[in-house]
Amino acid sequence: MRNGAAWTDRGPVGRVAFVNGRYLRHDLAGVHIEDRGLQFADAVYEVFGVFDGRIFDEEEHLDRLERSVREIAMPMPMAREPLKLVLRELARRNHIVDGLIYLQMTRGATRRDHAVPSSSPRATLILTARLTDPDSVEQKRAGGVAVVTHADQRWARCDIKSTGLLANVLAKTAAREAGAYEAWLIDRDGHVTEGSSTTAWIVDRDGHLVTRDLDNAVLPGVTRQVLTEVAADAQIRIVERRFTSDEALQAREAFLTAATVGALPIVQLDGKPIGDGRPGPIARRLQDLYRHAATLKAGGQ
Ligand code: PDD
Repeated sequence: MRNGAAWTDRGPVGRVAFVNGRYLRHDLAGVHIEDRGLQFADAVYEVFGVFDGRIFDEEEHLDRLERSVREIAMPMPMAREPLKLVLRELARRNHIVDGLIYLQMTRGATRRDHAVPSSSPRATLILTARLTDPDSVEQKRAGGVAVVTHADQRWARCDIKSTGLLANVLAKTAAREAGAYEAWLIDRDGHVTEGSSTTAWIVDRDGHLVTRDLDNAVLPGVTRQVLTEVAADAQIRIVERRFTSDEALQAREAFLTAATVGALPIVQLDGKPIGDGRPGPIARRLQDLYRHAATLKAGGQ
């Protein structure tokens, strides 16, 4: 066990959390019951993947976090450089080799009122760490995962990484109940927007990588961004456009990306095989390229 911890179904959470400037025992850490994150999902978040003890794509995740807070006019509770120190210290204190760091910022605790208070309360900043089981991810990579489609019932600003995730929660739950790993969300025009917590991709009949163009309907995935750069370097053509689930069923390959898993091949959509029903070579190659590039960028943190 690389992370040096006993594995359970739910996965071990780290022993140390960071809440508003203090490192606390995870099981004793908490926030105020009037926190606006709890009451209104007036909050944004980021998830950083940690692999071989390195935080992947740290700058890109922090760029997106700064964009999210800007879009909802929430002040950053901490400057970027000290925040990076906290990320690393949390990974260190939790002995994370492979895992993730979850960061959430809320607009703080005040008497409940929908409008943002004119005298802003102190923001709530929470970071937690969790180990992931690299063997389980490797198994999914080797065998591929199944996806089912589900109506996209989210709000109109999915480009903001808000904690208002009820529609995502319901879609992912429906997928799990159908024995699938992820739900691909379908917009009103019948196009795939993205997964409930992942970016959706296909490799079309011409061998081009296809993922939806960025607008308010999708989260600008960090893994998407880095993968797009490495694919371009490897002369793999990328086309940003919409596609339907029917097109995905005709595609050579399909895969999903997220900070926690990199690129994972999809072998089944709504119970039907994609390609020959096995993980495709392009998804595998992209995962290797991504991992290599992200490791180099993370350097000797
Ligand atoms: N989810 N789309 C959605 C809706 C997501 O929630 C995520 C990330 C992604 C992929 O983004 P990135 O490559 O930056 O991880 C796409 C995180 C992992 C989560 O909510 O747990």
